[in-house]
Amino acid sequence: MMEMGERFIFLEKSPGPKDAMQDLMNKVESCKKCPLFKSRKNCVFGEGNPRAEIMFVGEAPGREEDAKGRPFVGAAGQLLTRMIEAIGLSRSDVYIANVLKCRPPGNRDPLPEEVDACKEFLFKQIELIKPKVICGLGSHATRTLLETSESISKMRGKVHTCRSRMFVPTYHPAALLRNAGWKRAAWEDLKLVRRLSKDLSDAR
Ligand code: URA
Ligand code: SF4
Repeated sequence: MMEMGERFIFLEKSPGPKDAMQDLMNKVESCKKCPLFKSRKNCVFGEGNPRAEIMFVGEAPGREEDAKGRPFVGAAGQLLTRMIEAIGLSRSDVYIANVLKCRPPGNRDPLPEEVDACKEFLFKQIELIKPKVICGLGSHATRTLLETSESISKMRGKVHTCRSRMFVPTYHPAALLRNAGWKRAAWEDLKLVRRLSKDLSDAR
């Protein structure tokens, strides 16, 4: 009886995946590990299905994301939403996060020291969500998660491994808005991501 009681207390105290995600979100929201905390209106932790099979990782919040506290809600976000819908899913089926959780002023590129300060949060998100496939949007996500300095055009279209998950790099939707010629390749990448997530489900 005594043992049961102790076990029960132990179980109650150990955080489940949901609590762990909430804990992580609380940590991000109070984070001051790099100077970007000073200029943020909101942290952009990430959102979606905490058990998603597919996780998208972008670069950093822009103006609209900073204002709303949500990832990919501006022009690039609308394109990403359409890309997700084109593979037969909705935003709530997948998980969407960024390398940086706070907006770099004027949307400048993330600095290496900001990425170093922030990337542990992303790694922890991956560990908790355990997606089958991660789609890296653009060079910052791909360089951070694959520890490479290769260009996105060299890396895309292939399946890589990142933290024991399959990783497919593709162009960032903001780059696709500037260069429509890359859309065909991005579409191929998205179809690959979808196929990989299905192949694994079928094999189970
Ligand atoms: N670009 C990104 O990389 N992330 C966002 O959340 C929005 C735009
Ligand atoms: Fe912390 Fe990341 Fe925000 Fe920097 S960008 S303050 S490391 S949450």
